[in-house]
Amino acid sequence: MDLYTPEFVHCNGEKFRVYLTHEEIQDRVKKIGQKISNDFYDRHPIFIGVLNGSFIFLSDLMRYVHIPCEVDFLKLSSYGDEKVSSGQVTELKEIDADIRGRHVILVEDIVDTGLSMKFLIEKLKRSHPASLTSVSLLHKSDQTQHNVQLDYVGFRIPSLFVLGYGLDFAQEGRNLAQIYIIDKKVPDN
Ligand code: IMP
Repeated sequence: MDLYTPEFVHCNGEKFRVYLTHEEIQDRVKKIGQKISNDFYDRHPIFIGVLNGSFIFLSDLMRYVHIPCEVDFLKLSSYGDEKVSSGQVTELKEIDADIRGRHVILVEDIVDTGLSMKFLIEKLKRSHPASLTSVSLLHKSDQTQHNVQLDYVGFRIPSLFVLGYGLDFAQEGRNLAQIYIIDKKVPDN
């Protein structure tokens, strides 16, 4: 049995259907990369990717950025094997770069409750960057409880669990080239 097909995937006993195709993702990531290139053309920004989820988005995004720039990574604890946030953020790896006086572009895969982004913005600001800009490929805006500044957003999505293009479910599914959503009805608001 194929666990992964273009339309549907099975992961850890749950069924997901395609939500954003490879072409839709690439088109949007390219536009964000071009906008960042224009906005930061003379600022030599440093991208900081949040591991593990942002590794595919960041690597695609950087290839659409046509100005000199740098990259570094930090790592936060993940959801573990669950589909809901634990409400706690733990830093597992710090950045190596000295960001004082630098133009920092923080890159997340998804903002859900906003807790991780809030934690990261507050933490990075303490290192006195010249500017701090946030990028998230996905935003579950109905779920967001923390007041976070998001400067570039790829797609606003419903409050349902998604998988692929770096995002995992209990560490699986990151290698999927498209973004899949859990195969349940979108709740009415
Ligand atoms: P937040 O702190 O609640 O905003 O959660 C952010 C982090 O939770 C992301 O960086 C992801 O690692 C994870 N996350 C949130 N929603 C999803 C999802 O739908 N699929 C996979 N991971 C998710």
